[in-house]
Amino acid sequence: NDLAPFIAGLPKAELHLHIEGSLEPELMFALARRNRVAIPFDSVEAVRAAYSFSNLQDFLNIYYAGADVLRVEQDFYDLADAYFARAAADGVVHAEIFFDPQTHTDRGIPFQVAADGLLAAMDDAAQRHGVTSKLILCFLRHLDEAAAFATLKAAEPWLDRIAGVGLDSSEVGHPPEKFARVFAAAGGMGLKRVAHAGEEGPPDYVWQALDLLNVDRLDHGNRSLEDPALVRRLADDGMTLTVCPLSNHKLCVVPDLASHPIDRMLESGLRATINSDDPAYFGGYVADNYRAVATARGLGKADLATLARNSFTGSFLDDAEKARHI
Ligand code: HPA
Ligand code: ZN
Repeated sequence: NDLAPFIAGLPKAELHLHIEGSLEPELMFALARRNRVAIPFDSVEAVRAAYSFSNLQDFLNIYYAGADVLRVEQDFYDLADAYFARAAADGVVHAEIFFDPQTHTDRGIPFQVAADGLLAAMDDAAQRHGVTSKLILCFLRHLDEAAAFATLKAAEPWLDRIAGVGLDSSEVGHPPEKFARVFAAAGGMGLKRVAHAGEEGPPDYVWQALDLLNVDRLDHGNRSLEDPALVRRLADDGMTLTVCPLSNHKLCVVPDLASHPIDRMLESGLRATINSDDPAYFGGYVADNYRAVATARGLGKADLATLARNSFTGSFLDDAEKARHI
């Protein structure tokens, strides 16, 4: 549509991006070949055809299987390098990216391999594309508290390069309270805290993320809209929500984009942002997400500019850096 050039030209921060979810089928095949890893697909087309999900778990099963091709530091570098090229082309000037160390350490790939590969690509992206970035370590919530503590411990040598901790994977049945002590420890180490909540889980999980995890930012948060007191709390706190429209559609959090609540969120005083979540799996990078909701919900330039401005306000850049972008 005619907003495409405006969207591409709008400086944006991306605040909800799982780097393992940016693994395009072409790179998956290339890495499978390079590392001599068998994958259960005959072609790139067959991989894409398998990307039809009816819920979060459906997606996660295929997402964790795909990550198996990531074996050595260069793989993580290539993965992030490809993401930053796509992000830069979309007008992203700052990205705060998630990685899932346990997905790798549980396969015998040391924390260092993933972290060093990603950090090297982040450094090069600043030089090559002028895109700054921060790294957020996510705990897999389907695993136990002890495993999360072990991951936090493994991260200690990298703490000067890690901005914060997050919480992802299967939400329902794994409430934030399960990780209250880990998040308290992370906060004590000076790390920022974010958590996925209210994607499939109930409003109570969002309350827990606020009150028990003390999150600095909320990932997704869609189901907060079911609880007016919670919406007021989020608005009063100035809490940033990292909303992911194409993800919401592909994972059936919304039945179609035409019923996406992004404009309702803004009208309710919520500081919503637009993000791509797992772009290789959900069919679009950040500008695709802006375009899709703009079309589906009839957003104009003022709304799009608000969403982009919110992405810097809600980032973990310092105030002077935010001021440069806003
Ligand atoms: N939700 C939970 N876990 C995830 C997601 C998501 O959208 N993407 C990657 N891991
Ligand atoms: Zn996510």
